[in-house]
Amino acid sequence: MQKQDLPTAAAPRALSGKDRLIVALDVPTMPEARALIKELAGEVGMFKVGLELFTACGIEIFEAVNEAGGRLFFDGKFHDIPNTVAGACKAVVMNKPALFNLHALGGRRMMQAAVAARDEAFEVLKEKHARAGGGRPPEKPTLIAVTVLTSMSAQALAEDLKISLPLDQMVPYLASVAQECGLDGVVASAQEASSIRLACGPGFLIVTPGIRPSWSGADDQARIVTPQDAIAGGADMIVVGRPITKAKDRVEAARKIVAELEGRA
Ligand code: C5P
Repeated sequence: MQKQDLPTAAAPRALSGKDRLIVALDVPTMPEARALIKELAGEVGMFKVGLELFTACGIEIFEAVNEAGGRLFFDGKFHDIPNTVAGACKAVVMNKPALFNLHALGGRRMMQAAVAARDEAFEVLKEKHARAGGGRPPEKPTLIAVTVLTSMSAQALAEDLKISLPLDQMVPYLASVAQECGLDGVVASAQEASSIRLACGPGFLIVTPGIRPSWSGADDQARIVTPQDAIAGGADMIVVGRPITKAKDRVEAARKIVAELEGRA
């Protein structure tokens, strides 16, 4: 392959800055989550609900996002036998997420079962919507994979899990297996995004956390990049938590990030 034929690392989709921004609802209670959703529903593309909030609040949190007209990323990271993951995927789809995820380390059969279950449940959802007679049509949920958790070091991968492939090869390898199984993308750090983009091409969604605008602190994140650098490095969407949720003016913080994503800052 000639060098000029290689896909570039930065393969931005035609998304607005708002569509690229996912806010992490990392709060433990429904009232706190509702306050964030109310304030930010018009400003951001999606709300990420993780295991902490979901385990505390159940599907009430999905309903709160949907009722506010927001889009939901359920960061449930499924990893179980294929039949169980398929059942979980069906249940999630009926709650209308825009995006949800699983662990690629669950294997090919699990990922294939998840894709089939997502597709089957979406058909049921569409029929249900048609029977109910209109309203906003449901959006087909995008299913993405976690490759290797960024908390897992190269040493832990080799010594604890006895995985012989080096971490920097394991991540794009698992991303390409996920793609072969029909998944739509991955969650990946900014450092991993370009190798995944090269392995999986421009149509594969890359969602990147660990983002810090130049005006905010790092908190406990060790390897951070700015919104603009994440997109330049190959990310399609970014996950931002504390720089928005802990800001004095959360709407202003979200707007500043959207402006940066659109090259207006
Ligand atoms: O507050 P902050 O912007 O650091 O939040 C980032 C969000 O992205 C959190 O919900 C965190 O759990 C999640 N995340 C991450 N790094 C990963 C995977 C997920 O920060 N590798």
